[in-house]
Amino acid sequence: MSDRIVLTIDGKEIEVEKGTSVLTAAGMLGLDVPRYCYHPGLTVAGNCRICLVEIEKMPKLATSCTTTAAEGMVVRTSGAKVEDGRRAVMEFLLANHPLDCPICDQAGECRLQDYSFQHGRGGSRFEEEKLKGQKATPIGPHVVLDTERCIVCTRCVRFCDEVTGTGELGVFQRGVRSMIGTFPGQELNNPYSGNTVDICPVGALTLEEFRFKKRVWELKDVSSVCGSCARGCNVNLGTSDNKIWRMTPRENQAVNRWWMCDEGRLSYQALDATPRLTAARIRKDGQTIALPWPEALDLLATRLKEARPGKTAVIASASLTLEDLHMVKRLFADMLPSARIVVPGKFRGSDDALLIRADKNPNAAGARLAGLTVDDDNRQLAVLLADAAAGKVDVLVVLGEEGLDLLEAGKNAFVCVFSPFISAAVENADLALPAAAYGEFEGTWVNFQGRAQKVRRAVISRSVALEGWQLMTELMRRLGAEAPHKKAADVLAEIAATVPGLSLLTPKTIGSTGVQVPA
Ligand code: SF4
Ligand code: SF4
Ligand code: FES
Repeated sequence: MSDRIVLTIDGKEIEVEKGTSVLTAAGMLGLDVPRYCYHPGLTVAGNCRICLVEIEKMPKLATSCTTTAAEGMVVRTSGAKVEDGRRAVMEFLLANHPLDCPICDQAGECRLQDYSFQHGRGGSRFEEEKLKGQKATPIGPHVVLDTERCIVCTRCVRFCDEVTGTGELGVFQRGVRSMIGTFPGQELNNPYSGNTVDICPVGALTLEEFRFKKRVWELKDVSSVCGSCARGCNVNLGTSDNKIWRMTPRENQAVNRWWMCDEGRLSYQALDATPRLTAARIRKDGQTIALPWPEALDLLATRLKEARPGKTAVIASASLTLEDLHMVKRLFADMLPSARIVVPGKFRGSDDALLIRADKNPNAAGARLAGLTVDDDNRQLAVLLADAAAGKVDVLVVLGEEGLDLLEAGKNAFVCVFSPFISAAVENADLALPAAAYGEFEGTWVNFQGRAQKVRRAVISRSVALEGWQLMTELMRRLGAEAPHKKAADVLAEIAATVPGLSLLTPKTIGSTGVQVPA
């Protein structure tokens, strides 16, 4: 028996696998059937009724998300009967809805608004007093609930039951008084709680950190990748006025499906919360003096030239891009062959069963592909810092590891720190160089699965910051090498042309969801 069936939707035949719902089959034809409770990542609840369609030989309209497509079925997703049914559903859902769109943070991305416009009556016949609910109630550290706006689609409840398995949420009371909430003594505090806000189709759940900060129609979504762990969840950076206002997950079935964790979701906040290093500067006689970039680069190049053989070292973060790390290798391994290169591991906690990885580097796999060794247990790092403190290192360059304690190392070595932020490492450095921060640079990260993905620029750096590959290029020129790269894409092209096994790394093959790199 064939595993496939053929049905007709809006006059078009389509062949689908047995078991496919009518709603999914319609989607395969590019038909956008309205839905509130249906979400492809959750079990089917069939409670909102907005996805009604007409099916020949069925006496009543049917909910397309709960109806399995059958051989020979003839379906209509529009028409007077269907529109009449959806209008009735909308009227029912809005009977007790506060209609407070002007002060609702979901406005602009609310399905109640969209479907009211597309399928609603345009006016209300409900003259009774609406039921009142709780407004703006925090139900966890990040999520705020407005029960008046909830349509009890149960997406949030199913997310906590089925995806995180934490089960903090439930539906309480019955009938028209049904409402969602947390179980007694519990709060919605699982590490993925923000996803409930994304999947809530209305303004009932909003994110504490984003609500009322910006109207969503003012945001431009820039597709990128989270940099807070080795998973590399695909994200949208909601950007306006040269600032990132929120991070939301972007679907990638091979990496994060539809989800992301709260730590990653809020990681953009560090950009504005941490003081930025805005100009190159040197420390001399206890004073900090600003330096123009060319002079700062000349100074570092001179120090690298003057260092005794084997007395140059670089600590390069595995948060740098593949392009940065490739150029680190070209400078420190190929041009200064006796230099020591350490790429620190960055482990915290443990891997969980959903997305979170203990490795907090987004690009350790990329560092390995660039031909560098990742110092998983940070032993090489400890030895290097001890050697620097003991005067066995002349020049130590630190790229993107602003959390390091370099006080002792800096007593005997010339220390240059390349960092977006002011930190103790920057304060103690002999030379500090401003680096582009997350959201300001672009390039490639390779996640723990070996998937190369594009991290994109969403904002322009307000300081004259360089990207890692740019710093390496400038230094290489000063040390007499050919370094023609003008943009990160040039470096990627060089990687594809010269690194065995990476010829597939082109902007086109990486695309918006990445490409698997051969192991
Ligand atoms: Fe659905 Fe949102 Fe209500 Fe949860 S809070 S049941 S996601 S409408
Ligand atoms: Fe970012 Fe990792 Fe969280 Fe994904 S799981 S959002 S990559 S920190
Ligand atoms: Fe089908 Fe809700 S989407 S019943």
